[in-house]
Amino acid sequence: MRMVDLIEKKAERQALSREEIEAIVRGYVAGRIPDYQMSAFLMAVVFAGMDQRESADLTLAMMRSGDQIDLSALPGVKVDKHSTGGVGDTTTLVVAPLVAACGGTVAKMSGRGLGHTGGTLDKLESIPGLRIEQSMERFFEIVSDIGVAVIGQSGNLVPADKKMYALRDVTGTVRSIPLIAGSIMSKKLAAGADAIVLDVKVGSGAFMRTVPEARQLARLMVDIGALLDRRVVAVITDMNQPLGLAVGNALEVREAVELLSGKIPEGDPLFEVCMLLGTHMLLLSGLAGDEAEARAKLLDALRSGRGLERLRRMVAAEGGDAAYIDLARIDELCAVRRKIPVYPERDGYISGMNAEKIGTAAQMLGAGRATKDDVIDHAVGLVMHRRFGDAVKRDEALCTLYVNDEKRLEEATDCLRSAIEISGARPEPQPMVYGVVR
Ligand code: URA
Ligand code: CA
Repeated sequence: MRMVDLIEKKAERQALSREEIEAIVRGYVAGRIPDYQMSAFLMAVVFAGMDQRESADLTLAMMRSGDQIDLSALPGVKVDKHSTGGVGDTTTLVVAPLVAACGGTVAKMSGRGLGHTGGTLDKLESIPGLRIEQSMERFFEIVSDIGVAVIGQSGNLVPADKKMYALRDVTGTVRSIPLIAGSIMSKKLAAGADAIVLDVKVGSGAFMRTVPEARQLARLMVDIGALLDRRVVAVITDMNQPLGLAVGNALEVREAVELLSGKIPEGDPLFEVCMLLGTHMLLLSGLAGDEAEARAKLLDALRSGRGLERLRRMVAAEGGDAAYIDLARIDELCAVRRKIPVYPERDGYISGMNAEKIGTAAQMLGAGRATKDDVIDHAVGLVMHRRFGDAVKRDEALCTLYVNDEKRLEEATDCLRSAIEISGARPEPQPMVYGVVR
């Protein structure tokens, strides 16, 4: 089997066999296939696609490239959630403890942010002392005690994805439905959960820019999960504006603490997406009979403070100073040299937002990485004061920038401004949820 023949076969839009796909993934991980051939192959997949069977074979080959975690020693249904990547998406820090407070078991391995999207590990590391690297023994112990642990991926989970994603990132081959499905599902399946709720984002801040594309990705991932006897549900949610108001690491932890403290009202997009994800996690765990019961349980866990208490216990168990997980102390993590308001150029209504640009503005201030070796500043970022459809006035701040290093302040301010479209008429409301795929 020569790699050049497989590249040509895919470029000619033929389906590859399971053996061929395994040979490519194994050969690349082992270093027998060079980056230039893999790049050509990935680009062929971008243009020619893969059918469902090929996508499943790719996922399995990737999953088997490294360790697979066996969570069967933990009691009950192990449930995980995953977002395809968004801006201001702090749902994990809200939903994982809430589900645990409702009796669920959440043993979660999370990732770092890259580019304009944030990662849960970076958010957690804004809490002093917290260590995202934990031994498997300690991970199991925390989940057994508290019902929830969110930690970094073990060193050898899906090495094929580490290598392939790094290559895709620099060869324009990220945005391919089979490649995204393989990347996400290989990691989720290797991490061992019985049930997985996927949040497929669609819009200006997401990999999927249209609802039909998002639906196709959701369908493919649900079907791949079913082939491995995992229960997978995908929700398709809006990313045409940041999900929460905060974009930045400690700022998003603060917003999660606010939500879990009852300071964010029902109907708020972050609140509602958390309820939706939590609902499906409880349903898949067998902890609620229907959506109404699941929501009632989640609301009770939230209002009684049990959700916040779980987050606090998890933070403490991972070595973090849980005293900060409190409305009275959380601001200390968001202390910066300057807080700079940004005003709109005219009166009107927000008729469009580019969530990717808003994420990029926060990244320019130091909240995110452009390359994986960049060092992030956990306190910086931005907080939006207005959402899509809101009225804005020239003398009322749209947003506050949280700034330490002013090197790229002007660029970040311009980027943020260019992300907000203002018009004279109030726009039609946009949906928050586009569908659920089972
Ligand atoms: N998230 C992933 O983990 N992989 C992708 O390919 C895209 C988003
Ligand atoms: Ca995220």
